[in-house]
Amino acid sequence: MTLARQHPIQVVAHRGASEEAPEHTLAAYRKAIEDGADALECDVRLSADGHLVCVHDRRVNRTSNGRGAVSALELADLAALDFGSWKAREALRSRDEEPDWEFRPEDREQTSVLTLERLLELVADAGRRVELAVETKHPTRWAGQVEERLLHLLKRFGLDAPPSPAESPVRIMSFSARSLHRVRAEAPTLPTVYLTQFVSPRLRDGRLPAGVGIAGPSIRIVRSHPAYVERLKRAGHGVHVWTVNEPADVELCVGLGVDAIITNRPRAVLSQLGRR
Ligand code: G3P
Ligand code: CA
Repeated sequence: MTLARQHPIQVVAHRGASEEAPEHTLAAYRKAIEDGADALECDVRLSADGHLVCVHDRRVNRTSNGRGAVSALELADLAALDFGSWKAREALRSRDEEPDWEFRPEDREQTSVLTLERLLELVADAGRRVELAVETKHPTRWAGQVEERLLHLLKRFGLDAPPSPAESPVRIMSFSARSLHRVRAEAPTLPTVYLTQFVSPRLRDGRLPAGVGIAGPSIRIVRSHPAYVERLKRAGHGVHVWTVNEPADVELCVGLGVDAIITNRPRAVLSQLGRR
C-alpha cells in the first residue's frame, strides 16, 4: 500500500538500516543514507578512555565477538572487536537462508566499533542533508560526562549552536530528563527529545520536562493512547515515535500526524510513504 504524504514526516533509521545490516556500524548507516533516510538514530556511550562510541547495550556481548561493559573497555579494545558477524549468523538462523548482508573481512571498517566522531564525518560527507538523532545512554552514571563530550564534539563540527532548534540537523534524545536538562543548559538551541516507554500520569496531559520541545513515545504508547499524541500536538510539541517497523503502525503514525518515524527498515517505510 502507498500512503499519500500528508505532511513531511521524517524517516529516521534506527541504529542505521539495522534490519538489514548490523546495528550501529558504518555498514548500517551507509545503507540508511543510500536508502534515502532523512535522519540517523544512534545511541552513545563512553568508553573507559572517554570516547563516545555508538553502542546500544551496556555490554558488547550481544553485538560483537567480545565481552564486557563498554565503560570498562578502551577504544583500542573495542576497535579490536567484530561488530558485524553476529548479524549474519542471526539472519541465517531466523531466515534459514543466505543473509542479504554478509560480513567480509576486507570491510573491517564497516563493522568495527563506530565512534560518534566517525558517524558525524559520514553525515558531513553524505552529499545531502541527513539529520542525526543522538541518544544519551546511562547519562546519570557518568554524571554529565556524556553530555560534556557530546557537546564538545558537536562544537568541533559546528553543530552545537544552531540559530534555532527547527534549523538544527542534530537533536539529542534521552529517557533521562536530567540529561536533556544538561544539554539545554549548555546548548539552548539544540533540540531535545524526551523518550518514554510508558505514559506516566504526570505526562498524560501532554506536558514534557521544562524546555524540551519534542516527545519520543514508543509505538506501544501510540497504539494504546492515540489521544496522547493529539494532546502533545495541541501543546505544540513535535512527536517522534520509535520503533515503527510494521506497515499498520506506519499508517497509524501518518494518520495521527506525527513528525518522525524511527524505524529499523527505512527503505520499506519510505516505500510505504510513496517516497521510493
Ligand atoms: O529512538 C529511540 C529508541 O531508540 C529508544 O529505545 O532501546 O532502541 O534505544 P532503544
Ligand atoms: Ca536508541
